[in-house]
Amino acid sequence: MIFKLENKRLALCAEMLAESHVDHDPRIAADIGADHGYLACALVESGVCERAIAADINPQPLSSAIEHIAQSGLADKIDAVLSDGLENVPQEGVTDVICAGMGGELIAAILSRGEWQKQLRGCTLILQPMTKVDELRRWLFANGWHIMRERACRDGKFVYSVMAAHYAPELIDYPCDGRYLTAGRLDPREPYSAEYISTAAQRMKKAALGRLSAKNGDTAQAEDMLRLAEQLMKEIGE
Ligand SMILES: C[S@@+](CC[C@H](N)C(=O)[O-])C[C@H]1O[C@@H](n2cnc3c(N)ncnc32)[C@H](O)[C@@H]1O
Repeated sequence: MIFKLENKRLALCAEMLAESHVDHDPRIAADIGADHGYLACALVESGVCERAIAADINPQPLSSAIEHIAQSGLADKIDAVLSDGLENVPQEGVTDVICAGMGGELIAAILSRGEWQKQLRGCTLILQPMTKVDELRRWLFANGWHIMRERACRDGKFVYSVMAAHYAPELIDYPCDGRYLTAGRLDPREPYSAEYISTAAQRMKKAALGRLSAKNGDTAQAEDMLRLAEQLMKEIGE
């Protein structure tokens, strides 16, 4: 499916939402940290979602979302909500929750909100963390969220990972080990995933070698990191 989105990161979020099968019909997406509202508009314009909620904690991005929604003629289908995370987002009917372009620890904090837990467990999560990706993966694992699919894309200078997750503790058949925390569920045979894994492995190798040569840290941990970096590089044939 082609979405009207120039930003490749957001386009991948939209694609992954479209390809993650849910029993819900119609689909209503809540985009948390929606900023300009491009993703919510693209999801509704394409017909993948019948309605959407564009939520942001800051009034300025929210007003730019309101403007974009109006320009797209979608004001009757997309609600813009000033909200810290999911706090002011109406739960009823929401089938998909998107958190993109935020830190992994903030995404985990947003998803931890008590009053949303029941509704959230029936939703598909589309997550695109910018930093602390390992913390988000750890949180998902510890809280029963099965990453069904993880894909990567390049946008400008960086490669980003996008995850689609369902609450399904019984389906988690992978360990929360260094491989999972570093490369998640990315398939090393996919070119952008290989690029993501390569970058992560090189960064890890550099950090491990730095620690080993400084001889002032935990040597055993640095050796583990080196082994993992080499294992990841082998996976992608480097
Ligand atoms: C870097 S922008 C990402 C925008 C868009 N999702 C994307 O990926 O391009 C992050 C947005 O998240 C919003 N934000 C930060 N913390 C938030 C929170 N706790 N709840 C809702 N929105 C938040 C910011 O105001 C900002 O508009």
